[in-house]
Amino acid sequence: MKVLGIVGSRRKNGNTAYLVQQALDAIECKKIETELIFLGNYNIRGCTGCEGCKDTYKCVIMDDMQKLYPRILEADAIIIGSPTYFYNITSDMKAFIERFYCFQVFAEDDRSVWSSINEVLGGKYAVVISICEQNDEKDMGFTAEAMSKPLEGLGYRVVETVKILKLFKKGDVLQNQDALDQVKRAGKKLEKTIRLRKETEEKLKLYVE
Ligand SMILES: Cc1cc2nc3c(=O)[nH]c(=O)nc-3n(C[C@H](O)[C@H](O)[C@H](O)COP(=O)(O)O)c2cc1C
Repeated sequence: MKVLGIVGSRRKNGNTAYLVQQALDAIECKKIETELIFLGNYNIRGCTGCEGCKDTYKCVIMDDMQKLYPRILEADAIIIGSPTYFYNITSDMKAFIERFYCFQVFAEDDRSVWSSINEVLGGKYAVVISICEQNDEKDMGFTAEAMSKPLEGLGYRVVETVKILKLFKKGDVLQNQDALDQVKRAGKKLEKTIRLRKETEEKLKLYVE
C-alpha cells in the first residue's frame, strides 16, 4: 500500500510542503509506504489536448511526468496540497492535474458518458490541503475545489479537505497548532480508510470463496 504526498508550492520548506509532510507522517501503519513529491523538482508541461492518450491511457508528452505516472498508478491514495496563488492553485499544480487527462475515458459516441481508469481499477482516495495568506475564506478562491473536483472526476474519493488560512511566510505554519492538528487528523483518516478497504477486500475474498 502506498500514499503519495504532492506539493504544489515551489517554496522548499514552505507551508504547503510542511503540511503535506505532516499529513503523511500521521500514517503510522508500517504496511503503508509514503513518498513526498515536490512538483518544483520536475519539469511538467500542461496537457496539449493532442488526444494521443485516447486508446492507450498513456500520455505521449515525454517530460518528467513520465517519472511520476508509475508512482501515481501504484499509489492507493494521494495527499495533494497547494498554496493559493491569485484565488487558485499554482501553475505547477494545474499542469500536474491536467496531465491526469490520460486516465479519463469517454464513450466514443457520447462525451457526456465517461469514466476513469481509477474507477475501473476499484477507486482511490485523496486528501486535499489548501493554504492562503488572508483570514477570510473567500480570499482562498477556488484553490481547494480546483484540486478536489478533478480528482473526484478521476475516481479519487476525497476523504478530507483541509483549508488553512493566515499563513504567509515560510515558517508561519509552525506557529499554527490547529493547522498541524487538522492535517494530522486528515492523514489519519486516510490511513484508516485505506486499512478498512484492505480488510474488507480480505473478508470479501473469504466470503466469496
Ligand atoms: C503569486 C502569489 C499569489 C498569491 N495569491 C494569494 C491569494 O489570492 N490569496 C491569499 O490569501 N494568499 C495568496 N498568496 C499567499 C500564499 O498563498 C501564502 O503565502 C502561502 O502560505 C504560501 O505557501 P507556501 O509557503 O507553501 O509557498 C499568494 C502568494 C503568491 C506568491
